[in-house]
Amino acid sequence: MCRIFKTDVLNRKPMSKIIAAITGVAGYVPDDVLTNQDLEKMVDTNDEWIRTRTGISERRILREPGKATSDMAVEVVKQLLAKTNTRPEEIEMLICATVTADMVFPDTANTILDKVGAKNAFGFDINAACSGFLYALTTGAKFIESGTFKKVIVVGADMMSSIIDYTDRATCIIFGDGAGGVLLEPSKDGNGLIDAILRADGAGREFLHMKAGGSLKPASAETVAAREHFVFQDGRPVFKAAVTGMVNTTQELLDRNDMTIDDLKWLVPHQANLRIIKSVGEMLGLAEDRVMVNIHKYGNTTAATIPLCLTDYEAQIKKGDTLVLTAFGGGYTWGSILIKWAY
Ligand code: UT7
Repeated sequence: MCRIFKTDVLNRKPMSKIIAAITGVAGYVPDDVLTNQDLEKMVDTNDEWIRTRTGISERRILREPGKATSDMAVEVVKQLLAKTNTRPEEIEMLICATVTADMVFPDTANTILDKVGAKNAFGFDINAACSGFLYALTTGAKFIESGTFKKVIVVGADMMSSIIDYTDRATCIIFGDGAGGVLLEPSKDGNGLIDAILRADGAGREFLHMKAGGSLKPASAETVAAREHFVFQDGRPVFKAAVTGMVNTTQELLDRNDMTIDDLKWLVPHQANLRIIKSVGEMLGLAEDRVMVNIHKYGNTTAATIPLCLTDYEAQIKKGDTLVLTAFGGGYTWGSILIKWAY
């Protein structure tokens, strides 16, 4: 039996592997701007501290009553469909990375699909905080690589203002609202998602979490009074773990693909803190002009930072360019994805 099996395997022609390619990117941020000067009037902080400690000058806030995370994602999906000449009925799956779902259930992906008229698709949310887009992109790519689907949308969308305590200067200066996304299709020429390393360490939840609202501590008058429905972050340990995590997974990804840092055209890091971004670039030995940065405009939009960067830099990325997307966030969750740009 064993010999027959081996012969069979040896005689079989190698199957050509399907690769998932990003064939379009889009981003959306709300119009309302919250500047450092605005924050100076709300908490004990100042523009200089925020700029030098984080690199952020302003962030966008979704203030329109009745609007939520799905509404920003819908704007992204509509742009993606228009840019790639895709009809809503052609979408087969949509994954939404978010920590600010419209509702505890159903998934925000369901709401997005309904609002854009994608009648032939299913979808679900992935909650991996700032690494959510990487987790979702890797998951979406598997459905293309397996031959199951030909059109998958992956969005990262977060209305962080809905879970930020604007009396807490340690967090309110960092976060903003936004959404970004990509269309995934089978690659026509071998350009696409090449490899990914994703990691998780639940012990890190101590340093970045929301205290109440889950099954561990359901919402009550007491949890509301104690302001426990907001982001809690102990910034210093997260900072250190973020630098180490992103550097290590990026280096490991390059090594196992027989690449050096010189083979990399672009690093697309999660935008949490300009000092983190700079440290990661320096430790990898990457010139500053090859690291995508837009944190000054939007702050930390959690799952949306990476697709928003890709959107802002789209005109500068060339077909065949090698990119590494890397992120670190609550969980802890982190990882890096290697891509050869397809258009
Ligand atoms: O995206 C998900 C993952 N998250 C991250 O990657 C975030 C990682 N962490 C960070 O980016 C940084 O730790 C923060 C930006 C959150 C904080 O920067 P830091 O340099 O780590 O500041 P710190 O918390 O160590 O605070 C330094 C000082 C403290 O004062 P003392 O104790 O030295 O007198 C703080 O009270 O700065 C004070 N401080 C502020 N001062 C003015 C803290 N926040 C502020 C503020 N304005 N907003």
